Amino acid sequence: MSQPSLKENGPKHVAIIMDGNGRWAKKKGLVRSMGHERGGNQVREILRAAFDLHMDQLTLYAFSTENWKRPKAEVSFLQNLLVKFLKSETKQLNEDNVRLKVIGDTTAFNKKVQKQLEDSKEALQDNDGIVLCLALNYGSRHEILRACKNFALQAQENPGHIEELNEEIFSDYLYTKGMPEVDLLIRTAGEQRLSNYLLWQLSYAELYFVDVFWPDFTPDHLQEAAENFINRDRRFGGL
Ligand code: FPP
Repeated sequence: MSQPSLKENGPKHVAIIMDGNGRWAKKKGLVRSMGHERGGNQVREILRAAFDLHMDQLTLYAFSTENWKRPKAEVSFLQNLLVKFLKSETKQLNEDNVRLKVIGDTTAFNKKVQKQLEDSKEALQDNDGIVLCLALNYGSRHEILRACKNFALQAQENPGHIEELNEEIFSDYLYTKGMPEVDLLIRTAGEQRLSNYLLWQLSYAELYFVDVFWPDFTPDHLQEAAENFINRDRRFGGL
């Protein structure tokens, strides 16, 4: 048998909880926003590395439904950073054949963010390379409740839907409709929890926790995670 390779056996859909921006900044005696800024730069580098490692989709937790609890100035900084990132990167993302997808309720963001997201998604919509999926104002519990509500509304009109409901149909009510299963979840900064991220979608994913802050997470770390993944025995409940 041939050796497993990243191309054939590596994780195709990788989700990342980019944690530790604040601690990175604190360690360096900088304000938290500088950690986010560095974290934003890291997104570029890791996306390029993901492509080199034959990944098809990177789903990044950029803003959770819980992040609104942070100080107003930090929330505002994160929104501006997202706009700045998309403004400066969309041309390059297009040259790299990247598609942009968003999961979460973006209507809560300011108009500048919403407009930039629409512009960037539109500019990249005909590409068919790696997918950069940003989770923005995303939370799994909210996503699942929203799916239930939308399903119930349809079932009210057509009660036959209730009998037919299965996992595949339910998945179509989630923000991630049509996306491939997540193969690998990476969380940086040493914390080992899921923080309301992709709870349905991670059912069979491999979990990988790494003790470096997100701004220090390099392509080598991503490669290590992918290599660790191919050495795991995934049985999906079978033998
Ligand atoms: C967690 O670090 C990080 C976030 C809440 C925001 C993630 C945002 C970025 C990586 C930058 C912007 C993204 C894009 C796509 C431009 P934390 O602040 O919770 O760190 P801490 O736990 O050390 O305080």
